[in-house]
Order: sequence, then C-alpha cells, then structure tokens
Amino acid sequence: MLTKKQARVLEFIKAFRVRHEYAPSLEEIRRKFKLASASTAHYYVGKLQDAGLLNKEHHQPRAVSPVGAKQTVEIPIVGVIAAGQPIEAIETSEDTITITRDEISRQGRHYALRVQGNSMIGEGIFDGDVVVIRKQETAENGQTVVAVIDDNEATLKKLYRENGRFRLQPANPTLFPIYRDEVEVRGIVVKIIRNLESQLDQGQSRNEKYVRKIDYSWDYRGEKTKSYTHGIHTYPAMFIPQVARRLLETYTKEGDTICDIFCGSGTALVESKLLGRSIYGIDLNPLAIFLAKAKTTPINPQKLRKEYLALLTRVEKMKDSKIQKPDFKNLDFWFKDKVIIKLARLKEAIREIKNEAIRNFLMTAFSETVRYSSNTKNGEFKLVRMKGEKLEKHDPDVRGIFCNRAEKNIAGMTDFYKDAKKDSWTKIIYGDSSKDNRIKASSLDCIITSPPYGDSRTTVAYGQFSRLSAQWIDVFENPNDASGVDNALLGGRASKTLTHGLQSEYLNDSLEKIAKQDETRARDVLSFYLGLNECLKQAYRMLKSKKYFCLVVGNRLVKQVRIPTDFIIAELAEKIGFTCEDIIVRNIPGKRMPMKNSPTNIVGVLEETMNKESIVVLRKD
Ligand SMILES: C[S@@+](CC[C@H](N)C(=O)[O-])C[C@H]1O[C@@H](n2cnc3c(N)ncnc32)[C@H](O)[C@@H]1O
Repeated sequence: MLTKKQARVLEFIKAFRVRHEYAPSLEEIRRKFKLASASTAHYYVGKLQDAGLLNKEHHQPRAVSPVGAKQTVEIPIVGVIAAGQPIEAIETSEDTITITRDEISRQGRHYALRVQGNSMIGEGIFDGDVVVIRKQETAENGQTVVAVIDDNEATLKKLYRENGRFRLQPANPTLFPIYRDEVEVRGIVVKIIRNLESQLDQGQSRNEKYVRKIDYSWDYRGEKTKSYTHGIHTYPAMFIPQVARRLLETYTKEGDTICDIFCGSGTALVESKLLGRSIYGIDLNPLAIFLAKAKTTPINPQKLRKEYLALLTRVEKMKDSKIQKPDFKNLDFWFKDKVIIKLARLKEAIREIKNEAIRNFLMTAFSETVRYSSNTKNGEFKLVRMKGEKLEKHDPDVRGIFCNRAEKNIAGMTDFYKDAKKDSWTKIIYGDSSKDNRIKASSLDCIITSPPYGDSRTTVAYGQFSRLSAQWIDVFENPNDASGVDNALLGGRASKTLTHGLQSEYLNDSLEKIAKQDETRARDVLSFYLGLNECLKQAYRMLKSKKYFCLVVGNRLVKQVRIPTDFIIAELAEKIGFTCEDIIVRNIPGKRMPMKNSPTNIVGVLEETMNKESIVVLRKD
C-alpha cells in the first residue's frame, strides 16, 4: 500500500532512470519534492523498498532501481464500512491507497473502504483493515459484498440468495445473519489490506500525558434516538440525544444557560428545552440553523394538524399558473422535470401558511422530501447522482414521501410540545464559533458540543449534504451561494504554511508524520486545528469560571496517522486556561460493537482502540 507521495517518488525514480540510466541521489529526491532533509528522502526510498517496489541496494549511491517496473494504481478510500451492525452509508474521500496494478483485475472500477467492527473476522477481515472493492451490482452466492439495506444502511457481509430472499452472513459465529427481501450490492471485496502500522500507532506504548477512560455506559446501544423532534430531519454526525442529556444532567442544573457552539441540527438544544435549561446554539450552516429552529420551537399539535390537512387540500386545488420552479444551477441535473413540478406545487402550498413556526416546521418535512425525491443516490451524504437504469426508473412519490415524513414529525412535535419546559429559551445564532458572536463574557454555565471531525472536504461535507434542500427552501438569498458553505466551515481553507504557534505536542507529532507523506494534507489538517483553537478561546471567554466545557470528538485517520484530537484539545485548552478533568471513551452507537463481550458500566478500564469517540471534559480555572 503506497501513499500518494510515495507513488510520486517512485514515478520520479523510474523517470529519472530512463533519462539518466542511473537512479537519482537522495539529495536529488529531496530537492525534487522539497523535502526537509535527505533522511526524509531516505524514508521514502525505504518505504518503497519495504513495499518491494525498489531493489534493496540503497547503501550504494544512486543504486536504487525499480523492481520489474511494476505499474501502480491509486484507489480512493471513500469511507468506512461496518463489519458489524449496519451503519448509515457515509461516503467521504478521506484518503487514497496505491497498490501495484497486478494486485487487482484490470476490469472494472475499484474503491476502498476502511472496516469497522468484527463480524467478518472468520474471513480474515479485521477492524481497521482496508478492503478494496470492485464496483458491481450483482454477486455470486457466498461472495463478500458491500451491501446497502433499508435504504441507507451499509454493511460488509457474505451474501446468499435462499428461499426468495437474501441472507447477509457474518463470518463470526457469535453473530446472527441478517435477512432481507431486498439488498443493494455496491461491490465485492477483492483485496484486504492490513494496516499494522496504524494499529501499532493506536497502542498505549507511549507514556501518554492524558488518560482515556472507557465507559460503555455511554454507548446507549440499541436505544431510540428519534424521539420528540430529534427525528424530523436527517443531519450528518448528529449527537445521540442520550449523550447530550447525560452531559446536561451531569454538568448543569435547571435554569442554567448553556451553549452548543457547533449546534448542527440542534440535538443538544432540544434536550436543553426538555430539561429546562436555556441554550444558545451557533452554527455556520444555514440549513442547520433552519432545522435547529424548527426542532426547538414548540407548536400546538392541534393547530399544526389543522394546517397540515388544509395544506393537503390546497396542493390538490392549486392552479398551475401559481407554480414557480426554483432557479438554481443544475436544477435539471438533480431533479426530473415532473418531480420539480410536484415539489414546486408542494412548496407553494407550504409558503401560503401564515404562522411562521408551522410553516417552517412543515418546510423541514418538505426539505427531507427534496432529498429523497432528488436524483441523488439514497443514503449518501455527498451529492452523488444515480445512474443508468436506476435513474431511468426513478419515479418518486413526492406527495407520499412528504405526507409520511410530515405525519411522523407531527407525532414527534406532539410529544415535544407536551414535555418542553415553557420557561427556558433557545437562541440560535448563524455565526462562526471561532469569532465573537456577541454572547457576553463569563455568562455561560456550560458549553456542550460536538465539533466536526475535520474539514468538510475530507470528512463530513455538511454543506454538500445540505445543498439541495437549502436551495429549495430558500435559506439563502441567492440559492447558488449554497455551494460555498463547506469552505467557510472549520478547516475549509488550507493553511498557507506549516509554521504555526499552536502549543500541542500531539498536534506537531501528527503533522510531522502526515507532512512526511503529503504536505498539502498536513496544511489542511493544521488549518482545522487553528480554527478549533480559536473556538476554544471564544468558549473560554463566554464561560463562567469553574464551569464545564464538554466536547464529543473523534480521532480521525489521515494518511494512516491517527490524530488524537481529544489529547490535542486537552493540550490546547490547558494553554488557554482550562483544566482537562476527564476523557471518557464511548463506542459510536449503531456503528460498531465492543471488541469483547464486556459488561457495561465499567468505568476506569484503560484501553484505546479505533471506532470510538471521546468526551473531553474541560473546566475553566
Ligand atoms: C458534528 S456536527 C454537529 C451536529 C450536532 N451535534 C447535531 O446533533 O446535529 C458539527 C457542526 O459544526 C458546524 N460548523 C463547522 N464549522 C463551524 C464554525 N466555524 N462555526 C460554527 N459551526 C461550524 C457544521 O456546520 C456542523 O453542523
């Protein structure tokens, strides 16, 4: 497996040999790639030798030579796949791997996925491995496939057709098969790549400055997450309501003022309202702001139902002359003409609702309808268009999707209206949390949040996910501005240099490892932490002394380097004036199972594995 940079070094050595009939010196490699030193060039040569792509003659000057001039191919790692419980199919273009051409067939297109979970260990596929997949929509009995079930749940399993239905069989005797009438095959596994290096990286070999405490009682595996208004609209990387609630119950009391500085669709805001805490929510994605407002504004369910029924009648009777198609770029690419007409009719009928809260609430159901009836592939957070027969056959029941969603949402609002505490307020701010958003200094009793994992381009593309909905529901004055959201979010613009003033050994260590392979990626990563550090400073300013700031964070992999965001936050925050009181590790719900059958509620067991997220608890000194 080669990184992009390693592959470029190999290409350079090959081309150099062709031109000069001898290999470049380490100094020539260093100069070509603007490496810090000849030893970095040596590192690359060593990697290529370890991969069997260069002969091992490096003690002789200019002696390296490509082995049999093997061709390489770069494959995108498009996301994670669960070899365990199905997870929402998330596609991110996080990384690439380079393998030699003869390792995979020349036919077909390939992509790679990082594996999470242990259900395929019987097939030699382990948690943390990378699997190379050949894209295809069918599979033979017994092949290991990437399967999407229930619309957008992706999993890695062996596929069998039997008795008119499909069996998705785990290769782990402790787990049960999954049966479905319909399974969408997205490809078959053609190669497994074990990354021992990154697993070593995960170990507790270093004398760490901070301690992570595993606590399975934070998992809330199998619990309902769509109660109240939590389920009214999909949003990437949402909080689990139970986690937000527990943090609120642990670190705040009724009547306190809280803030979620990356509020997204507003999970913590809903929980605050239910617990009688007042809360600010800040986000830089206009669709998130719209959803958070709709979720947290209590509406009398009788009035809501009445307006909903009236709306359905209005849609039927609406004259064609009243229907206005929206005007944004690529409308016809993402929607079929008849879908556009149906959506426009529905939207016009919603716009006629006078009560703003009701109008916006029903507009969220419309927003989901937009996503589901668009030509985008179901279950992907990125904008990927359907193709071929699937696109041809695509004929969504726009009204049916809307009614189904609206009725579920009304049921959620009925519960929320009943239980929301009347005397607490929610204020939602469209703003950048790395800047001053006019929340008074030392005014908050607690900050609870979950920041993005990294920049939107290479992790979760919040803006891209939101674009079509945002364009339809008019959250932008000019709908074409919707494509600019991702660049504005944390880490959206790469830092110009790798020189910085952040005082974090963990960050420097990660940046150094990444820069050795790919300097541009290292600058991307740095830009994210520069922004995050500014957010920590703002949080410090707003929080009262001795109060808590809880962040739920993921430690992402970049170029096979696991970045310990939890430790980096702890280091940066301590420089600002916080004390890191705790780092609690939980399994990410719905995504994976613990490695062993461990009893829950064991606090204090030390362990670090992948597939977990950390709750960093900071206290202002
Ligand atoms: C992990 S999500 C939060 C999800 C949220 N907890 C929920 O339950 O829906 C992170 C959020 O951070 C927002 N974000 C990214 N950069 C930001 C910035 N500089 N200022 C404010 N919000 C930002 C993104 O738009 C995204 O909604």
